[in-house]
Amino acid sequence: MTEYSFSPTGERFQLPNQENYSIEFERLKEMVNYQRSLKREIVVVMGLGFVGAVMAAVVADAQDGKGNPTKFVIGMQRPSIRSFWKIPLINRGLSPISTEDPEVALIINRCANEKKTLTATFTYDALKFADVVIVDVQCDYIKESLDNVRNGRAEMEALEKSFEIIASHISPETLVLIETTVAPGTTEQIAYPIMKKVFRKRGINRDPLLAHSFERVMPGKNYVASIRDFWRVCSGVNKEATSRVVNFLKEVINTEKYPLTVLDRPIESETAKIVENSFRATILAFLDEWSLFAEQNGVDLIKVINAIKVRPTHNNIIFPGPGIGGYCLPKDGGLGLWAYRHIHGFEDDIFKITPLAIDINDTRALHVAQLTRDAMRNMGRPLASAEILVLGASYREDVGDTRYSGSELIVRRLTEMGAELRVHDPYVLHWWEFEKQDEYPATSHNLKRFFRGQERLKDLRVEQNLKKVLQGIDAVIFAVRHKPYLSLDPDEVVMNAGGPIAVIDCFGILDDGKIKRYFELGCEVKGLGRGHVKRIKDQVREEKEQMLMQIPLQISKSTQ
Ligand SMILES: NC(=O)c1ccc[n+]([C@@H]2O[C@H](COP(=O)([O-])OP(=O)(O)OC[C@H]3O[C@@H](n4cnc5c(N)ncnc54)[C@H](O)[C@@H]3O)[C@@H](O)[C@H]2O)c1
Repeated sequence: MTEYSFSPTGERFQLPNQENYSIEFERLKEMVNYQRSLKREIVVVMGLGFVGAVMAAVVADAQDGKGNPTKFVIGMQRPSIRSFWKIPLINRGLSPISTEDPEVALIINRCANEKKTLTATFTYDALKFADVVIVDVQCDYIKESLDNVRNGRAEMEALEKSFEIIASHISPETLVLIETTVAPGTTEQIAYPIMKKVFRKRGINRDPLLAHSFERVMPGKNYVASIRDFWRVCSGVNKEATSRVVNFLKEVINTEKYPLTVLDRPIESETAKIVENSFRATILAFLDEWSLFAEQNGVDLIKVINAIKVRPTHNNIIFPGPGIGGYCLPKDGGLGLWAYRHIHGFEDDIFKITPLAIDINDTRALHVAQLTRDAMRNMGRPLASAEILVLGASYREDVGDTRYSGSELIVRRLTEMGAELRVHDPYVLHWWEFEKQDEYPATSHNLKRFFRGQERLKDLRVEQNLKKVLQGIDAVIFAVRHKPYLSLDPDEVVMNAGGPIAVIDCFGILDDGKIKRYFELGCEVKGLGRGHVKRIKDQVREEKEQMLMQIPLQISKSTQ
């Protein structure tokens, strides 16, 4: 049966068949021979996802002091239905990622079309050419329930398989740089023995040259810079691997301005990544209880945070929005917990704060459904069968990444409660977590499993026309701080909706002037951490009452 992979714009690409593999290998061989004649190092980046695709381009863009390219990069992506389309797109010089950073599209186009230092492929045989392999595949953490990260597990099989594949293809001198966020201990206690075993079988009598250096990429406005112009941590399994990884990173990223931190062992680099993200998950989770406190006691948490932020020691305090999504923060702490038991063999339970933070973050979005229910009730309208619009599907502003976004949970819980959902997002064309909820991201990962009545969400489509999608809604949920939502005018929103609606602000998107205007227009407003809206509501009511009291006075004056 012929199988196809669809790009986000709906373009169809046929998955390769057996014959395509030998043709592809010959294509790569020819390119590699030419690139070697130019003395360029061959780098294979395994996994062309949100990290790998941009890292591949950053490496392909590297040049020496005279401006000559020093690397030829082969991006290697497995030909899955979900991801194969990325290969032909990159080979056309097009970015597979939708983002606010214009440099992503420019650098991919420059390297694929102008410098010709970047190509993408589906064949593992590319690994045979590699001087350096960069591993940028995912390592998932599967949860068994929505609010208990403890009973989840790291999904190691795919990663283990990747190490086996790499070891059976590469030459013994190839440096293998793991950038994937892994359970601490993976490089030395999982990758190393797997690769050593395969090497032995191949009659190779030397240690695999393995190193770890995690990514700190921040998808968004500074996507490329967050890979190239940012501090890195690295470590190798032995002196040779460490020196190779240090030299490589110095050649491809801006280590002059952003010096490298070299740690003694890969487990330290791996732990640094997990602690870094657990720290961030914790400071976000910590504000959840204060967000509820604010709502119940007339406090605007947004203003409180801004007041605290001016203190230099506290300037990284951040408002959590509707849950903490993205691929990393919901899972990385879990990888640490899992490693403690399943890699290092400890039985005791030392973790308190990290799992609690993840559990709080994983369920925060559900409160948005309660706020929506209460706002509708205050307007005397039932939630069931109400038309509710969610503005923003991605997990953060100005990117098209929907993985574990708070918006997904909002949609799922409100659907469970009987509402009809609409979604708008300027960066997301297809919300695969819904459209393909039986298989995406994988059957066992989709959050559908934690909710009832989700079948109809397969038909949910992301709308691009804001004016149109506002028509006839009963409620609007401002879920993500995407640029177009920050300037939305309350009068226009209400006019397009056809009358007063419930307005839920999840991210401090509405200033007090806009909140007041929504109330004046007859809307009900609620927001995460925004207890002061009640004060604005009372003020609008008093102003209306005063106006009404003045009317008889004016009438009597005019009739005198
Ligand atoms: N996305 C982020 O913001 C971010 C930030 C920092 C670190 N990271 C870490 O970087 C790693 C990659 O994340 P991502 O967001 O790029 O994930 P992703 O799911 O977008 O990309 C992974 C890619 O690897 C491919 N792949 C999987 N197995 C493969 C194999 N055997 N051979 C070839 N390709 C294979 C997948 O098809 C996919 O395209 C993860 O460990 C993640 O935690 C991500």
